[in-house]
Amino acid sequence: MSNVRSVGWRAPGRVNLIGEHTDYNDGFALPFAIEQACTATVTVLAEPVVVVGSAQRDDEVRLALADLQPGAGEWAGYAAGAAWVLRRMGVDVPGLQIRLDSTVPTGAGLSSSAALVCSVGAALNDLLALDLSPAQLLTLTRNVENDFVGAPTGGMDQLAALDCTEGHALFCDMRTVVGEQVPLPVGDDGAGDLAILVVNTRAQHQHATGEYRARREACEQAADLLGVDALRDVAMADLPAALSALPTETLRGCTRHIVTENDRVLRTVELLRAGQLDAIGPLLTESHASLRDDYRVSIAELDVAVETLLAAGALGARMTGGGFGGSVIALLDEHLVDAARQAVTAAFARQDFTSPVAFTARPSRGAHRVAP
Ligand code: GLA
Repeated sequence: MSNVRSVGWRAPGRVNLIGEHTDYNDGFALPFAIEQACTATVTVLAEPVVVVGSAQRDDEVRLALADLQPGAGEWAGYAAGAAWVLRRMGVDVPGLQIRLDSTVPTGAGLSSSAALVCSVGAALNDLLALDLSPAQLLTLTRNVENDFVGAPTGGMDQLAALDCTEGHALFCDMRTVVGEQVPLPVGDDGAGDLAILVVNTRAQHQHATGEYRARREACEQAADLLGVDALRDVAMADLPAALSALPTETLRGCTRHIVTENDRVLRTVELLRAGQLDAIGPLLTESHASLRDDYRVSIAELDVAVETLLAAGALGARMTGGGFGGSVIALLDEHLVDAARQAVTAAFARQDFTSPVAFTARPSRGAHRVAP
């Protein structure tokens, strides 16, 4: 057992380059970690309590370890939930103080919650010398969100927050839950002249979680009707037959999106491996159209941002994350970044939308230890 009684771990938010809503269909996704991250500093306490504080909040939440129950602690549940999951696994969890400090914007579709649960999970693995395998750590962090907080997320965000590396996107196979590093030479690494601009629309749909659940259920129902384990098992060549076997437009739309999106991820990975980053733009834009028209998770702010970025010269643009608000990404020549940013701000002002916030993304490293 280590005698270190306080550790710090940092885990990033993510942008999903392509492969949206595929994770809970056992499919493919291609996220990369962003520079914005959450740092968790965790210290052992003598008292059997979990105390959670955040540099971004004035309140501190204090929960007795023995009373931890799913749903407890509101915002602090994303941190305290790890203690509950570990106790459920049979770990003798001591009293803990958890201090959070995050630069990942919340409600922006950039996985601020995965950054949080992964920084805390990795810190506890280290502090309590649990020696969890990468798969076990991933399960721990997913369980915090799924079982303690009650957020029905699909696992891609946590895999990205834990396993991404600098300068790469992570090709995730969500059936085997394994990620492969794929070079993504954007940003200020001097390797190329393309940038990924992230536009946080700051729009948030009230019913996003309910809509997310409804899409998951539709996918499960479609898979059942088609007699497959998950929509991942429907090949592109079999899509027409699958569609004609489904009874409603909702089920057909969901299936069409998942099958074509998996195919777009595979084609994007092939292009990136061949060093053809400049050729992936149309796949990004097709992904957006599919999410808008077939999966129906886009909203006006996302569509206006995508159209404006394309008109400003982007090679491709799409919403990223779950949808119903959040962010849009565009791949574009770095010299066009300022003009594109201004064009979106002007378009939003014309529509009377909240003013967006934009930044260029730099593919960054996943969870790592920092000085407490
Ligand atoms: C959210 C979820 C992920 C994934 C995306 C959509 O970010 O947390 O698991 O389903 O939506 O791709």
